[in-house]
Amino acid sequence: MCGIVAYIGAQKAYPIILKGLKRLEYRGYDSSGIALYGEQIETYKRKGRVAELEVWDEKITETATVGIGHTRWATHGEPSDANAHPHTSNNGQLTLVHNGIIENYASLKQELVQKGYTFKSETDTEVLVNFIEEIQKNNDYSLEEAMRVALKRVVGAYVIIVMENGFPNRLIAARKGSPLVIGVGEGEHFLASDASPIIEYTKKVIYVNDYELAIISKDEIILKNLGNEPITPYIQQLDMELAQIEKGGFDHFMLKEIFDQPASLTDCLRGRLDSENQILTLAGIDQHLSIFTEAKRIVIVACGTSWHAGLVAEYMIEALCRIPVEVEYASEFRYRNPVINSGDVIIAISQSGETADTLVALERAKEQGAFIFGVVNAVGSSIARLSHAGAYTHAGPEIGVASTKAFTAQLTVLAMMAIKIGLEKKTLSVSEYKRYLAELALIPDKVKTILGTHQAIKKVAIHYAAARDFLFLGRGYNFPVALEGALKLKEISYIHAEGYPAAEMKHGPIALVDEHLPVLFIATKDAYYEKIVSNIQEIKARKGKVIAVVSADDTLIRSMADHVMEVPEVDELLAPLLSVIPTQLLSYYIGVELGLDVDKPRNLAKSVTVE
Ligand code: G6P
Repeated sequence: MCGIVAYIGAQKAYPIILKGLKRLEYRGYDSSGIALYGEQIETYKRKGRVAELEVWDEKITETATVGIGHTRWATHGEPSDANAHPHTSNNGQLTLVHNGIIENYASLKQELVQKGYTFKSETDTEVLVNFIEEIQKNNDYSLEEAMRVALKRVVGAYVIIVMENGFPNRLIAARKGSPLVIGVGEGEHFLASDASPIIEYTKKVIYVNDYELAIISKDEIILKNLGNEPITPYIQQLDMELAQIEKGGFDHFMLKEIFDQPASLTDCLRGRLDSENQILTLAGIDQHLSIFTEAKRIVIVACGTSWHAGLVAEYMIEALCRIPVEVEYASEFRYRNPVINSGDVIIAISQSGETADTLVALERAKEQGAFIFGVVNAVGSSIARLSHAGAYTHAGPEIGVASTKAFTAQLTVLAMMAIKIGLEKKTLSVSEYKRYLAELALIPDKVKTILGTHQAIKKVAIHYAAARDFLFLGRGYNFPVALEGALKLKEISYIHAEGYPAAEMKHGPIALVDEHLPVLFIATKDAYYEKIVSNIQEIKARKGKVIAVVSADDTLIRSMADHVMEVPEVDELLAPLLSVIPTQLLSYYIGVELGLDVDKPRNLAKSVTVE
């Protein structure tokens, strides 16, 4: 969370940083700020969206060619002008932006207060900038030396970028635990939390690693570790187009990303599924097949929507591969001293590849000798790099805070993994294998068919937009879809929603049912169909309002439900790929109907890089 951008070169820095911050707003959007180097460093910061910075009309915005910017998701201290970044040290020499959390900030602050330092904000960041100043002053160090010493004493996660008065042609950045990308231009350089602010200027990037320091001028990048040893920068070519991170005519990124799904799923399958010859190639699995076929247990670690994809994968892998699977919240797994045995495989699922809890959980598991397989969307991200092997989801950049196309791409990769391993283990017959491949190949078109019904789903959304609560129920493969549907609705519309396995409803949630409660059943044709029909009757008998996601040829549920949303028929193992789409659209249209900012729901951030 929090996004940072910096520029150093010959162009005007202010518009580049402002635009970059807007691209990073999905990482946090409660306050923001920019510092520019003119005659000296000047800072402008405001509570609220990045757009608040557009009114900075000082001359420096026209002249400065060096600057840093920040968009914040509050951790220490409420959103306010004072708590917004950049923060400046007491002697006014150092100005810094920070993404992450300094966990020992309270003790460092105490030390500094005793030495006479004063603070304008409640942030851990202001402590850090003053801590660097103190070390620099006391030892007569250069900024670089002072940062190295300071960062060795800092506990927590950070990316920082620092400007110093007297050094107009230099930025110094450092990273531990939070992401940082350097864009390499001609006579100019860019820094950012991800590549989206950089892509329109250059496709050459360097991903900075933990414990590295980057000293950057317009013509030079020097990378060092905290021990002052030089590191040769590894320049990579970005495989991303500007159009992928723009709205392309849609009202919101979320809607664009929902409609992207036929294409993103095709991208995900491309080069992997050869349906003509019935071959499935997943390089990350193929290179480590025996690890998977001999695995005693698979533990899936993830957060949020990615955790829901993990629940679907549990059902898929146990069914097709007969390997026991556990699905863990990364935040619990990392702290609860889990048992990890040799022969265990950890699958990490993450859209951003930067979620702090997932990252640390994996580091711990790796230390204990587990084999780590990453199912990640963001290429080159921290989780991708930490994994022993992996399969990218290739959904393209996802900007809307609520995850949509990343989820279906995760499901697709996880299904391919289960099919591949199952065949290899011979727990899946060749004929079933071929059947699944044929079904997978049809998924993008079936998603397109569902998207074609968006107007009908919009009507359902408008009908229920005033609801106070919602219940989402499903069984089997559709149970995690119920959880995901409820999460999406909460995120986007702020309507209270809960997801349950349909049979569990009798153990509590049924007490909520009355004529005001909409209950959304994910009720496509599968092994549980008759059971779910009974559950629908139980809700109707108590006057609940029933919305059902049904298979296209369904007549029975259609005759019982108040509203239905149709999806094409598909094998139950792949059903979540389709049944989730109407729930995404429903949440989106309810959010829009309520006049909410669906791309940036309150209090949320897309990439949760603090624990
Ligand atoms: C945040 C996002 C969710 C996402 C979760 C896990 O909460 O708002 O959409 O599912 O983080 O993120 P990851 O990038 O690890 O999938």
